[in-house]
Amino acid sequence: MTIVEACESRTNSTPDFPMGWYSVERSHELAIGEVKPVQAFDRELVLYRTRSGNVALQDAFCPHLGAHLGHEGRVIGETIRCPFHGWQFSAEDGKCSHIPYCDEIPERAQLRTWHVQEKNGEIYVWFHPENTAPQWALPDLPELGDPKWTTPRYTEHRVPAHVQDICENSCDPVHFLYVHGSQEVPESTVTIDPDGRTMHLHSDMATTDYPNHLHATTYSPGFAMVRTTYGPDAEMIMYNSAQPVNRNETLMRWTLIVRKEIEDYAGDDVMKGIIDGLSDDYPIWANKVHKRRPVFCKGDSTLVTFRKWVRQFYLTSEDKKEIA
Ligand code: FES
Ligand SMILES: [Fe+2]
Repeated sequence: MTIVEACESRTNSTPDFPMGWYSVERSHELAIGEVKPVQAFDRELVLYRTRSGNVALQDAFCPHLGAHLGHEGRVIGETIRCPFHGWQFSAEDGKCSHIPYCDEIPERAQLRTWHVQEKNGEIYVWFHPENTAPQWALPDLPELGDPKWTTPRYTEHRVPAHVQDICENSCDPVHFLYVHGSQEVPESTVTIDPDGRTMHLHSDMATTDYPNHLHATTYSPGFAMVRTTYGPDAEMIMYNSAQPVNRNETLMRWTLIVRKEIEDYAGDDVMKGIIDGLSDDYPIWANKVHKRRPVFCKGDSTLVTFRKWVRQFYLTSEDKKEIA
């Protein structure tokens, strides 16, 4: 008798969100006193900057009667005030600090507060399903602000795919031939640092008009730096930080800098090329499912390395078993 497996739905095997650092906004997009709704990790969150300049990211629904603090919530000093009945919550720990019509504050009146850090011109959140303290530090990006490099060019895209699948794309040299129209499958190697966490992809594009070497450093799924070298002083760097909106949608924030020597040749054209490249991937991502246990062939070694690497960012045994 043949046992028929349940039909594969689009979402039944999509993993949870991997732990790590993610971006939720660019620093210059959040002024003092500004309040914004944020959708990330399938949750509704509120992001705001207090009067002293600190950034807070908290669960958005007020514990009182559920108003969304990201819509008409207001910064009062170092707190946020709910638009519905005026309860105020501390930016530091989310505790209710003031109820305008009552002296007694219920113990459970508290918002979950996420760990945020501003660095490299972005606001990052440490995501862990149990909201633990960060387990590793954000990397330094020393070329940002270095006078040898251009000021950053920014672009943002909503991509209809799980953050892990977008990250996996960079360890998939074969798709360059079929999806991006490369002449050949680039020679690629994937290595992992002794810490077990930072992954490097090295790829040589020898037969393009501008032969180059690409080095992608992935610090965690959704946080990567891609350095492309054409020759001495002819380099560009793309920082890529993701905001997983939900299991099927990810907002990507890209920051491009290039050596000033090649800005006129590489600056805007490269940005355009990268955006075009994304539109190549788009129809695949929009229609694919996440394969929890893909069938790999011998030629898929970089993908196998990726799947083994990515397990460490998950908590549940089901998500850790990404490949059999
Ligand atoms: S719902 Fe927020 S104060 Fe009532
Ligand atoms: Fe791609």
